[in-house]
Amino acid sequence: MIETTTAAISFWQERYTRPLMDLGAAGDANLQGIFSPGYDATTVGQYVQAQFMQEAEGYVSRYANTAYWHALLVRAFETAGLRPAEHPRGIILDLGSGAGNTILPLLELFPSAQVLASDLSAMMLAFLKRALGRTQAAARCGLLQLNAEALDFHPASFDLITGGAVLHHLLHPDLTLAGCARILKPGGHAIFFEPFENGNALLARVYADILRRPGAQLPPDVASFFRHFAADINLRKGRDKRAPIFQKLDDKWCFTRRYFQELAGQHGLSCTIYPLHTTENPFEKQTEVYLRIGLGKDRTGLPDWAWELIRELDGAFSDDLKADLLIEGCIILRRP
Ligand SMILES: C[S@@+](CC[C@H](N)C(=O)[O-])C[C@H]1O[C@@H](n2cnc3c(N)ncnc32)[C@H](O)[C@@H]1O
Repeated sequence: MIETTTAAISFWQERYTRPLMDLGAAGDANLQGIFSPGYDATTVGQYVQAQFMQEAEGYVSRYANTAYWHALLVRAFETAGLRPAEHPRGIILDLGSGAGNTILPLLELFPSAQVLASDLSAMMLAFLKRALGRTQAAARCGLLQLNAEALDFHPASFDLITGGAVLHHLLHPDLTLAGCARILKPGGHAIFFEPFENGNALLARVYADILRRPGAQLPPDVASFFRHFAADINLRKGRDKRAPIFQKLDDKWCFTRRYFQELAGQHGLSCTIYPLHTTENPFEKQTEVYLRIGLGKDRTGLPDWAWELIRELDGAFSDDLKADLLIEGCIILRRP
């Protein structure tokens, strides 16, 4: 259990502009020590569906991989020229923290920093609280129910803002980036990891080719997964999210490089984006990941001829172009 001291909440309350209350005040021990400015169910429901609420436990066990996120963060810090040892008393905000994939590595990499974990789903934060309860670092970690689109903190409050796979759930990630530009200290970084359109649209094309192949004998769950994938990527293209369906979709965006570069320019931030994949067979490797996470299957879930088509796509591009391609990417923004 986290000790919820008055000192811990006052540290974060000083930096936040709205009054915070303890969600556990009404007696739910799972929520004790999780603070919130107070959100109504409609606001939460626009962003957070069953997978991050009543089905959160299944999501957490399927996606828990702190070693992977640790490696992603280390590479991002190296790319940004950010040396954790030089920020011993850093103040860090993590957005859409979920159950701790980014928080646990952040607490380890910045052993004296104050870290604020945040998520709009109090249920996800309750899982994070449980995970933190077993670590020494819990005393340095605040837990805040927060809509990442409304960063109501005082200006220049944070040295570092991170977000692992959160922006693509938002209706207005532009508001988040504007907020980051405001609440970062000069010289501070905001680092996000997100899905991108160009690589995923190519994957959707090759999956459609696989489905269309005459006499294709795909396992029904794989065929259905590919069909949904292609439809999902198609839906998430573009910047206009006003259609009612986006109020019910967890995954709303597949980003482009241009989107972040334009926003960074508007807010005076520098912007670096690089792919998370290596240049060696990125489409084949990403398909393995999708099969494993989406269906719990290994390579044998797809017939050899289908792998051959995916490898042809990998072979169609030079290493240079594969290094430009983004399936999932890291976005590093810096306030000068
Ligand atoms: C894909 S999960 C990522 C969780 C964690 N960062 C990780 O890497 O495992 C996305 C998280 O964003 C949260 N989320 C969705 N919409 C949000 C919003 N508007 N504000 C804050 N968090 C949000 C979800 O509840 C969920 O925990």
